[in-house]
Amino acid sequence: MKPGNTPLVELANLAPEGTRLFAKLEWHNPTGSIKDRAAWFMFENARNQGHLPPGTQLIESTSGNTGIGLSRLALINGYPMTICLPANSTEERKQLLRAYGATLVEVDGGPNESIEVAKQLVADGEGFMCYQYGNPGNPESHEFGTALEIIRDWPLDAPPEHAFCAYGTGGTITGTSRGLRKSYPSIRIHSVEEFVHDPISGMRSQDDPFQPPVADLSLVTDRHEVTKPEAIAAVSTTMNLEGHFIGTSSGAIVHAAVNYLDAHGGTAVVLLPDAGWKYLSGDPWQ
Ligand SMILES: Cc1ncc(COP(=O)(O)O)c(C=O)c1O
Repeated sequence: MKPGNTPLVELANLAPEGTRLFAKLEWHNPTGSIKDRAAWFMFENARNQGHLPPGTQLIESTSGNTGIGLSRLALINGYPMTICLPANSTEERKQLLRAYGATLVEVDGGPNESIEVAKQLVADGEGFMCYQYGNPGNPESHEFGTALEIIRDWPLDAPPEHAFCAYGTGGTITGTSRGLRKSYPSIRIHSVEEFVHDPISGMRSQDDPFQPPVADLSLVTDRHEVTKPEAIAAVSTTMNLEGHFIGTSSGAIVHAAVNYLDAHGGTAVVLLPDAGWKYLSGDPWQ
């Protein structure tokens, strides 16, 4: 099953008065996150370019979701898969990765340390890495997928004035903004980021010393830094008002979008990367 064609729904109860807010529910992808899109593009490109002769081990560093998407593709296409991820990733993600047949290398530290370990495995000749942080297939999956679906499904006569995306590898915001700008030249693109010392799974900050080569933030017009407590509060509010159980980075996006619309008005689309169940065992859900 190919990822994409996720629902675009209105969040009428969350939208401040006089504004319209629509959300793309990315947990409706095969393994439950937006990263199925990038995984599919990167895997297909690697195979078409001859990087994956039978038996090649796939290696990836990931906070979880890209690894889960790639592990599914590795499993159904008969490739071994090794995932390097922060040791403190939630148990649900580790269980899911193992269920999809991946071997886990748990790394002390965060995503940046996991990248170094994965690169070393590749340097040692252990296998092929799609390297989501530098692979053009990552943003292309959004430029030619996510963005076109929003344009096709947007229900209002006037185009959306704002789009809000999380910034992690930069794949979503880079590709979606490229795709949306072709049809909506004046749309404002909002980058939703973690504070550099307050990590939210899957997200990063433009203040982080490592900036993914794949990220092109030249189309970004606005930047929002969201704390983890603010993101968690928005997860609860979204559950209470809309009945959607969203993940923590989605909470950060909702927080930024609702506050912005409240102050400035307008119409917006938010891309919600995943649902909340993968975070249930983590703080502060215990
Ligand atoms: C839960 C979650 N939110 C947001 C993102 C950020 O998306 P992107 O890597 O396209 O910037 C990711 C990426 O892994 C993620 O897993």
